[in-house]
Amino acid sequence: MAEATVGGSAETIEASELAEIGLRFEVDGEIATITLDRPEKRNAQTFATWAALARIGDNLPGQVRIVVIEGEGPSFSAGIDLRMFTPDGVPGQGSFASNGQRDDESLGQTIAKAQRGFLWLRRPDIVSIAAVQGHAIGAGFQLALACDLRILADDAKFCMKEPALGLVPDLTGTKPLVELVGLPRAIELCLTARTVDAKEAYDLRLGELVVPRGELRQAVRDLAGALLATERGAATATKRLLQGAGQRSLEEQSAAERQEQIARLKIMSARS
Ligand code: CAA
Repeated sequence: MAEATVGGSAETIEASELAEIGLRFEVDGEIATITLDRPEKRNAQTFATWAALARIGDNLPGQVRIVVIEGEGPSFSAGIDLRMFTPDGVPGQGSFASNGQRDDESLGQTIAKAQRGFLWLRRPDIVSIAAVQGHAIGAGFQLALACDLRILADDAKFCMKEPALGLVPDLTGTKPLVELVGLPRAIELCLTARTVDAKEAYDLRLGELVVPRGELRQAVRDLAGALLATERGAATATKRLLQGAGQRSLEEQSAAERQEQIARLKIMSARS
């Protein structure tokens, strides 16, 4: 792994700052790896985690085409740090317990800031892969859902626990969940807050592949290598097309294909 800092501007996040938050960020050529690194607390996430994820996205080195998100230790992530619901909260980060005193706009801004940490993972010029082992609960499940692809260890367990805690899933997870499993199953999973094991998750299309726990990292590397085999411009344009397909009619999608292809053909002929 070549680098341990983010970008080269004033926005640079030093590895030591990330370590305090419980994150690692490493770039090896075209592959960036973000590791949730607080295994002793099962990689529980805080506001600082989400702000740092957003900053990593803002400062992603230009050569990066694949972003892998993985968790250290037995769990991918146990979700939100439960201290955030206590009156004292997480030191330096406040608490949800005091949120009753804040106006809607300020609460909305706080949530939007957290969501920024997840939304950039859908950028068309990158492919994001979650490597999920053990529990992915609440914000952990949503972080996996924020990625384009999910590779599961055979001990992976997903749970959308927010409704059981009196909350809704608000870290961008509801749309990809419905798109992957369909509305009835999404309602059933969220409103029961039950745990889905790796086999069922694969059957529900929540994972592209299930591998033995010890083979997870290698499986992700293999997938990243295969994804890097395609030309970047074509890969970006194709992902953009695929992402828009659900919102367009067949006619509109055909027009979008033509538009992207014309741009590709021009680039190809300029090269020859
Ligand atoms: N927040 C803070 N600390 C956590 C945590 C969390 N979400 N999850 C685990 N920990 C801590 C435990 O308190 C424990 O700490 P100590 O050693 O200091 O006691 C340590 O991590 C290890 O935990 P366990 O012994 O419970 O580990 P386990 O491997 O037996 O079980 C687990 C793992 C199933 C994830 C279990 O810890 C668990 O159920 N955690 C709580 C999960 C949860 O309810 N998360 C909230 C989801 S909702 C959400 O995320 C809301 C949102 O987005 C808005």
